[in-house]
Amino acid sequence: MTKPKKKLKIGVLTTGGDCPGLNAAIRAVVRTCIFYGHDVVGFLRGYEGLIENQFILMNSHSVSNILQRGGTILKTARSERFKTVEGRQKAAENLQSLSIDALIVIGGDGSFRGIETFTREHPIPVIGIPKTIDNDIYGTDTAIGYDTALNTVVQAIDKIRDTADSHDRLFFVEVMGRDAGMIAVLSGIGSGAEAILIPETKTRMEQIVQILKRGWNRKKTSMIVIVAEGDDAGGAYRIADEVKKKFEHFDTRVSVLGHMQRGGSPSCADRVLASRLGVAAVEALIEGRSNEMVGIVGNRIVHTPFPEVVNTKKEFPMDLMRIAEILSL
Ligand code: F6P
Repeated sequence: MTKPKKKLKIGVLTTGGDCPGLNAAIRAVVRTCIFYGHDVVGFLRGYEGLIENQFILMNSHSVSNILQRGGTILKTARSERFKTVEGRQKAAENLQSLSIDALIVIGGDGSFRGIETFTREHPIPVIGIPKTIDNDIYGTDTAIGYDTALNTVVQAIDKIRDTADSHDRLFFVEVMGRDAGMIAVLSGIGSGAEAILIPETKTRMEQIVQILKRGWNRKKTSMIVIVAEGDDAGGAYRIADEVKKKFEHFDTRVSVLGHMQRGGSPSCADRVLASRLGVAAVEALIEGRSNEMVGIVGNRIVHTPFPEVVNTKKEFPMDLMRIAEILSL
């Protein structure tokens, strides 16, 4: 790619829930900007930083030694103020006063919904980079953070399996996924779970009890049920109580993994994904693209307009539930 004549001043921010790989994405954005001769400004705490005019000028040194670190050096937040006309107006005034030419938003679908509204009110080129451990954003096979979260969950369940096996116990493990069962199904296959409960399908308690009784009759020494936090039957504690009522032989325990799933050093896959998307986002701006998200589909960089990203439901790989069921015998 040839270097454009005009020197751009590009803003970058991380917004929404944190996840591993955000720093790798920031590093890629900053280094790519420098490579092409552009200035880059990091806004702090997501859209809140735009509204409060809190930013740092970034150079190659500001992103040294962060590739492997979890969290985000730019901090993040879920901004209620950015949902208001006044908040967005303030953000636009600050961007103008700083002569920001374009923005790169590293966020999830809620963040893209917010920025899509913003760009309709205040035209400025914006490119999105998808991140969420839930992996439920349309327009990319995988979002930043998902692979690391899966590995964290599988490692945790392996440990739980040891104690479950030693005590002949049934464990209900609750994993993140308010609206999506992606973590539950992949980690379920990866950890050999006996059953997986996800928001995408209706949970039938009788069926779960049957599966567990079958395991009991076959003298399984441990059983793990993975519950996505958004499952329609309730959280892991409630489901464990229901199962216990129907079959009291089980020595049952519950483990809610919680925010540990969002922390830690990113996996190599997440570092590479974040690096590729960071470079692609800057190059998209240089090519004059705007109001799109960069993603990777079938190992190729794709650009999807924000309205399509936020209004399209990502297809859930239901075939994986079938695989999990076959293998849980
Ligand atoms: O969207 C990512 C996610 O981790 C969800 O899986 C979870 O429900 C939510 O964020 C938790 O958000 P918070 O950090 O605000 O508790």
